Amino acid sequence: MTSESLYHLQKSDQLQTSTQLQKKVAPLNRAKSQEIYKRLCEVIPGGVNSPVRAFKGLDMSPMVIEKALADTIYDVDGNVFIDYCGSWGPLIHGHAHPAILQAATQQMAKGTTFGITSAVEEMLARKVVELMPSIEKIRFVSSGTEATMSAVRLARGFTKRNIVVKFIGNYHGHADFFLIQAGSGVVGLTATSSSAGIPDEIISQTVCLPYNEIEVCKQFLLDPKNSESIAAIIIEPIAGNMGCVPAKKEFLKMLREVTQCIGAVLIFDEVISGFRVGLGGAQEMYGIAPDMTCLGKIIGGGFPAAAFGGRHEIMDCLAPLGTVYQAGTLSGNPVAMATGLQALNMLEIDGFYDELERKANIITEPLRELFNQKKVSNCVQQVGSMFTIFFGRTSVANMEEGGMLNLENFANFFRYMFANGVYIPPAQYEAWFVSSAHTEEHLEMTRDLILNYFEFTR
Ligand SMILES: Cc1ncc(COP(=O)(O)O)c(C=O)c1O
Repeated sequence: MTSESLYHLQKSDQLQTSTQLQKKVAPLNRAKSQEIYKRLCEVIPGGVNSPVRAFKGLDMSPMVIEKALADTIYDVDGNVFIDYCGSWGPLIHGHAHPAILQAATQQMAKGTTFGITSAVEEMLARKVVELMPSIEKIRFVSSGTEATMSAVRLARGFTKRNIVVKFIGNYHGHADFFLIQAGSGVVGLTATSSSAGIPDEIISQTVCLPYNEIEVCKQFLLDPKNSESIAAIIIEPIAGNMGCVPAKKEFLKMLREVTQCIGAVLIFDEVISGFRVGLGGAQEMYGIAPDMTCLGKIIGGGFPAAAFGGRHEIMDCLAPLGTVYQAGTLSGNPVAMATGLQALNMLEIDGFYDELERKANIITEPLRELFNQKKVSNCVQQVGSMFTIFFGRTSVANMEEGGMLNLENFANFFRYMFANGVYIPPAQYEAWFVSSAHTEEHLEMTRDLILNYFEFTR
């Protein structure tokens, strides 16, 4: 992509106002994408295999991808986008990294699935146990949903209690009992649960509390009417599913103390933050060790792998040692284990995370300065290489504040970025991800494009 093509909209159209920006939507030729998407809709509900891919609320059809390399993604019409979605987080080394491809092909040549134990499972398990000391034992699964669902079943089996506490705006995958006030992809779907098809009896086993609200939560959790039935508290310690919203340290500390006090299992859902914010995840950053951790995304190096792990006395309640059943035909898939191991090995290179944050800062620092200077009520929230630009708030600490965001302004911004060759997550309640493959040139082009937008839309 040339800088000329990326800037075509700004230079030729002399954008002036947000209304004008809105009209300049997608001058790209997208005929093939639209045609394929239409056909997809005939055989796949909404044309997608995961709802947020449908670009709902953006008034445009999604692009259909042909291929991707490093920090760049190509659609079937030949349009080229710098990618800040990164497959929703796994691609910390960018698309089609040669070392990850090599790990995959070497393993594939030896077989793609055995349905029985292979040595590479031990290598990845030992690596994770070494990097995250709170994880004494680990079990691999194929998706984040499986990881969180299994972790809660295990916590229930271990404590012999039923109630699960989660936080409003946190997403933990699509198991029935999690789909209650559950963040990005499900915002506003139904009034009570976040999905139709979930019996009230199941919803009644989940309690939703406000994120980052120390006193309200503490009072609820310590009330003997509640505390004796709580099996687990699950939290995204750095939320990615209401946009990037880190938990306050005191909030996590309170949860740690309270769970110890009432005998509940504290589960950190680090499906996004694990290996994204540092080798030891959010738990290392905050210095707080949960009883259990759920991992996904980066742990598979771009292939379907996820995991849950924690204290050995909890983990040993799993079958075949214990009575909590959990299984999977493709669990610990050798190709995903090999690519995951390769991805984690590359994270251990000295200075990897500092460099990644420096790259993200190329975009976020000048933007923050601009917001401050112009005193606009937008903000950038960031932890390392993940961040969100929030429209209409100077900070977001929980979903109540997230509910006050200006989604129309986000949609205008998304369309502007898209029309100019930058693909960002297609929803306000999501995080951008910078990878080690993002080039200086592309980061600077993105920065200038964004600054230009906010100069004109002020
Ligand atoms: C924090 C968190 N937990 C769990 C999940 C579920 O993972 P998966 O989509 O792999 O099922 C996600 C997915 O985005 C997530 O962000």
